[in-house]
Amino acid sequence: MERTTGRGVLEDRAALVTAGASGIGLGIATRFVAEGARVLIADIDGERADAAARSLGPRARAAAVDVKDEGAQRRMVAEARALGGGRLDVAVDCAGYNRSGLIMEQDLEAWRDVVEICLTSVFLGIKHQAAAMTAGGSIINIASLNARQPAEGMAAYCSAKAGITILTQVAAMELGSRGIRVNAIGPGLIETPRTSEVIFTRPGLVEAFVEQTALGRYGLPLTWPGSRSSWRRTIRSG
Ligand SMILES: NC(=O)c1ccc[n+]([C@@H]2O[C@H](COP(=O)([O-])OP(=O)(O)OC[C@H]3O[C@@H](n4cnc5c(N)ncnc54)[C@H](O)[C@@H]3O)[C@@H](O)[C@H]2O)c1
Repeated sequence: MERTTGRGVLEDRAALVTAGASGIGLGIATRFVAEGARVLIADIDGERADAAARSLGPRARAAAVDVKDEGAQRRMVAEARALGGGRLDVAVDCAGYNRSGLIMEQDLEAWRDVVEICLTSVFLGIKHQAAAMTAGGSIINIASLNARQPAEGMAAYCSAKAGITILTQVAAMELGSRGIRVNAIGPGLIETPRTSEVIFTRPGLVEAFVEQTALGRYGLPLTWPGSRSSWRRTIRSG
């Protein structure tokens, strides 16, 4: 949402968004910039992160970061802090993906990969982001509806996302006295480059998701084509 008048709610704040080059992360980064923040878009796809930062203007910067790597997370936080003139106010830990497989068929490598990207990376993020938030701040972890809702073939993803919710609660307890809030968001189905490939192409799946949704619709990130006009669109008839 672009502001035409007044100060944004994040004016003079410094933020970082992991997985900020696409989908939900890009939507969040876009909104943060519109609200006046300086934002580091951190993504393993450095070229896409560069393009995203260029499209958002001078308040955005890009960094090529693999969030599974602790050294890369440390450097990312230092870069975000430099962008903020020595402070980091907001961090969004958004990186994550699923690799489907029934438990009896999934190999250990795939399990570890999903747990590492969805859960361990959030642990590493909180650890280094909190250390940089010397004046307090806010850490927002992107979990999923699947933190609560089991799905066949998604044992690693559901377990890792459920892990984020309890990790977030522990972190909130540990960091509250430093003025750092830690929260998690559990999105339902959001149309993004990833889900448009793996979910929206499968007949009946979107309808099944929407059927269980109180508002009768799926979500669209701010940056998704048509999102402003069509976020209310419903595929449930009546
Ligand atoms: N889209 C949904 O319906 C939905 C629902 C619930 C939760 N989520 C969660 O939201 C987050 C974003 O999902 P999305 O649909 O926007 O995905 P997306 O595929 O559109 O974007 C993911 C981004 O993550 C980046 N990435 C991948 N591995 C990385 C790594 N190791 N280090 C840094 N960046 C990496 C990719 O380059 C990509 O830019 C994920 O954690 C996902 O689990 C999505």
